[in-house]
Amino acid sequence: EPATDAAALLLGWYDRHHRDLPWRISPPMARKGAVADPYHVWLSEVMLQQTTVKAVKAYFQKFLALWPTVGDLAAADTEDVMKAWAGLGYYARARNLKKCAEAVVRDHGGRFPDREEELKALPGIGDYTAAAIAAIAFNRRSAVLDGNVERVISRLHAVETPLPAAKPEMRALVHTLTPLGRPGDFAQAMMDLGATICTPKRPACSLCPFRADCRALKIADPETFPRKAPR
Ligand code: ADE
Repeated sequence: EPATDAAALLLGWYDRHHRDLPWRISPPMARKGAVADPYHVWLSEVMLQQTTVKAVKAYFQKFLALWPTVGDLAAADTEDVMKAWAGLGYYARARNLKKCAEAVVRDHGGRFPDREEELKALPGIGDYTAAAIAAIAFNRRSAVLDGNVERVISRLHAVETPLPAAKPEMRALVHTLTPLGRPGDFAQAMMDLGATICTPKRPACSLCPFRADCRALKIADPETFPRKAPR
């Protein structure tokens, strides 16, 4: 059992070391309970599927300049959307983007729903994206699990089950760790930690807010987590 509140340690680290990304409400505003615009969160999360943070920044700004609201995007010409997307790759994402914007306008009066189940019913929104939008834009305590978070949680708890079988177990561990306050910041802090400290190779464990609690660091080599099924 961790002697300290691991989530509080992570949020403290995030307040000092979070990345300034254009779709985020950054601390201290987030600490006061402000949340990001659901349209911005959705757009950035769809762009970030299979594309790096660095590459996404400029596209995100361009889309908001062209289509400031989800209603504007829903009304846009599909060809214009495809053109603006050019270079990001995985063009099915752009087609679903436009379809999703239309569904938000048609089925939800132009406002993104705030529950995971409703979000998942929209085109192009899967488990991860639904959880991310619910947490980051609506402060819901959803378990946000991407590749970075899988690495962090598998090391923190020394999860021996290999991926992908370990996903339900990891999701439960993330949910347990997610705090009542600031669940959106917690999710983004886990992603930032995985991207900058708890890296696949040579993690910077001495700088990690979880260093006193990390089971992998205590018992083994953190680099050997997450476990992978032999192929
Ligand atoms: N990768 C995907 N979504 C992200 C987010 N909100 N912050 C940082 N990295 C991410």
